[in-house]
Amino acid sequence: MTGDRVARTRAERSGDHPSVDAIHRLAFETGLEAAIVETLRQAVEPLISIVAELDRGEVVGHIMFSPVTIDRRGGDIEFMGLAPMAVHPRYQNQGIGSRLVEEGLAACRTAGTELVFVLGHPAFYPRFGFLPAVDSSFHYVDSRLDDYFFVQCVSAEGASVDSGTVAYHETFDIDGV
Ligand SMILES: CC(C)(COP(=O)(O)OP(=O)(O)OC[C@H]1O[C@@H](n2cnc3c(N)ncnc32)[C@H](O)[C@@H]1OP(=O)(O)O)[C@@H](O)C(=O)NCCC(=O)NCCS
Repeated sequence: MTGDRVARTRAERSGDHPSVDAIHRLAFETGLEAAIVETLRQAVEPLISIVAELDRGEVVGHIMFSPVTIDRRGGDIEFMGLAPMAVHPRYQNQGIGSRLVEEGLAACRTAGTELVFVLGHPAFYPRFGFLPAVDSSFHYVDSRLDDYFFVQCVSAEGASVDSGTVAYHETFDIDGV
């Protein structure tokens, strides 16, 4: 714990890549998520990628959103999936992750996204407005993980689909993230 404060969140820049890579390796204790981030950067468009930095400019957190498909349709900005996300272990439990989720959802809304999905912990994501996806008849490709799958409509106009099977980009297939 230090006296540093998160000064701001902002779009990730290429100069941030080494820091973001290191944060994922430290937070997850494996290189898997860092590898997924790198693959997404190279292979996927559009991406929403946001970092949190301290007053002195040190990057300490990162969140990424990439297009998902519903029943194999989409793959553009209208349906986005949150993942991966990580905060440097030294700075966890200080609100940085929450700020990244909120800023990321706002960025998705601004970009014209209808639905944001996330595969994650039931104790964390509902606090940001995510609801169980199964309640809206959305299922993760691996239905065994449906209890961990959440959705949020971020469009004022609502969503153009109300059910279906949701898949992240194929780079996530190597393991559950
Ligand atoms: C999950 C993570 C991004 C949260 O960032 P953070 O800055 O610590 O989060 P915040 O300080 O905003 O919120 C802390 C809350 O999240 C909870 N939390 C942290 N990690 C969690 C996890 N893996 N599952 C469920 N809840 C978690 C904390 O218990 C705390 O809850 P509280 O507010 O009720 O006390 C960060 O802990 C992390 O990088 N973890 C390792 C990587 C990971 O699991 N990423 C998410 C999956 S892609």
